[in-house]
Amino acid sequence: MKKFVIGNWKMNLNVHEASLFAAKLAQDIPIRRGVETIICPSFLALEPLSLQIDHRQMKLCAQNCYWRDSGAFTGEISATQLRGLAQYVLVGHSERRNIFDEDDREIRFKVQAALRNGLTPILCVGETEFEYNEGDTPHVLNDHVAGGLLNVGSDQMDDVIIAYEPVWAIGSGKTPKLEEIEKAIELIRTQVAHMFGKSIAKNVPILYGGSVNLTNARAILSVKGVDGLLIATASLIAPEFVGIVEIASELVKKEGEKG
Ligand code: PGA
Repeated sequence: MKKFVIGNWKMNLNVHEASLFAAKLAQDIPIRRGVETIICPSFLALEPLSLQIDHRQMKLCAQNCYWRDSGAFTGEISATQLRGLAQYVLVGHSERRNIFDEDDREIRFKVQAALRNGLTPILCVGETEFEYNEGDTPHVLNDHVAGGLLNVGSDQMDDVIIAYEPVWAIGSGKTPKLEEIEKAIELIRTQVAHMFGKSIAKNVPILYGGSVNLTNARAILSVKGVDGLLIATASLIAPEFVGIVEIASELVKKEGEKG
């Protein structure tokens, strides 16, 4: 199965810096079948980068979108406006949930807006440190997955990606144990199976995000069920990000050889 390596640049790099950084990545990112390398710059950089990058090498993802297609929503950017600029959009990142108070209802509307406009939503789910300590991870994952994907049709699930990002692992340098990641991914797949059936659950790409770096990427990508990585801090360091893409390519190649 294809592996995804996604760099979320968050609110970093102005348009000029984003262009220089993308050019730097372009020198070294391998174009290989089987790995989808995706960068998520700010809204402002999407258009210039969409003209600059080689789309076989990298794809573009927006970090957010509004769920209405157009209208009197000052300051918002709709999925309709992102058409042709980005192929993917992050939905429900923990910073959107926790700093901007997005709830499952709004997140679900955004997932639908993305799908309606031909973008692939990357639905981010994950527990906070408090929830982790309380043993609530399974409930939180079920709620986030069920809440985010409610009203999505089975025929639309080919265009959905889920990212498991424990909030306490984001930007903290801490990661769950590998077996905890495996368990969480399995829980998410089970929930998708309840909603859409086993074959859709088997095929939905599920990524891990939270303090991924060049040192731990291979081990995390090798965890059963992990189809890719969502990376922020390390994605802004060119050799780290390129190195992680190379690791993903190697693993895909090895899997291919095994058949
Ligand atoms: P991090 O962030 O890689 O800096 O931990 C991940 C994310 O926010 O998606």
